[in-house]
Amino acid sequence: MNAHRNAHIIVLGNQKGGTGKSTTAMHLIAALMQEGASVASLDLDSAQGTLSRYIENRQRHYNNGATSLPLPTHGAINPSAATDRDEAQAEERFAVSEAIQELGTDHDFLIIDTPGADTHLNRLGHSFADTLITPINNSFIDLDVLGQVESDTYRVVRPSHYAEMVFKVKMEKARRELNRRTFDWVVVRNRGAQLESRNQKAVELATEALAKRIGFRVAPGFSERVIYRELFLEGLTLLDLSDKQLGVRLTLSHVAARQEVRDLMRAIGFVSTPDEG
Ligand SMILES: Nc1ncnc2c1ncn2[C@@H]1O[C@H](COP(=O)(O)OP(=O)(O)OP(=O)(O)O)[C@@H](O)[C@H]1O
Ligand SMILES: [Mg+2]
Repeated sequence: MNAHRNAHIIVLGNQKGGTGKSTTAMHLIAALMQEGASVASLDLDSAQGTLSRYIENRQRHYNNGATSLPLPTHGAINPSAATDRDEAQAEERFAVSEAIQELGTDHDFLIIDTPGADTHLNRLGHSFADTLITPINNSFIDLDVLGQVESDTYRVVRPSHYAEMVFKVKMEKARRELNRRTFDWVVVRNRGAQLESRNQKAVELATEALAKRIGFRVAPGFSERVIYRELFLEGLTLLDLSDKQLGVRLTLSHVAARQEVRDLMRAIGFVSTPDEG
């Protein structure tokens, strides 16, 4: 697991499906490339393959000569087909270490997308994080994947299986690294309504309580906007839309959404470009 690499590794992880890992991964990739960073990406959820397909769609756009959008150096790992569990895990460990060695060298960032389920590839992905980003939808159901809270006081009853896994991986990383560094865990609220309800406010309070107990930070994520779903087929992100060759007229909603992407980059600590006026 001590693959040599230079890139800062950002892992998108949550053992719950459909929370926005792949969408956030693609937007971070585009935002970092726009910042001038060299970016690699690795899809550990290649059975589903959302991130790989997003990048293929982007590549097609590029090949058609429609645009000259930057592309990350991309890799994908399939789950092992071995029936013996130890053999399967050894194969996956080897494949991921090799990929990280290759993609992590000579790039500033490596973005790893993981499956939304408790699998070996999911845990393995987490073990390489310098920054772990966990998108959650703003609901008590999604919060339950991080920990159980009392309904009236939001007192934390117990951390979840996932939070315990992240804690274990953090401790293992601290033991492994000479400087005892662990990683920054950022929980990002995704698909929040633009007008906040009482329920959303309650979820926020409970998330803050969990953050203190479990040891993550909370960052603002993307609001619920159709545009996040529409861009996939063309492999585009909100940050590409100002590209003159694309000829897209930016609406106020686009501008607000692009600001959300920048705000997330800033919250994680990876932004230098100024906000839009
Ligand atoms: N901010 C948003 N606004 C609207 N739709 C969104 C937003 N973020 C994600 N979606 C949509 O939600 C669905 C799930 O998103 P995504 O595939 O990124 O999640 P995931 O966590 O990677 O899922 P999985 O666990 O299945 O890999 C997709 O249809 C995506 O287009
Ligand atoms: Mg996904």
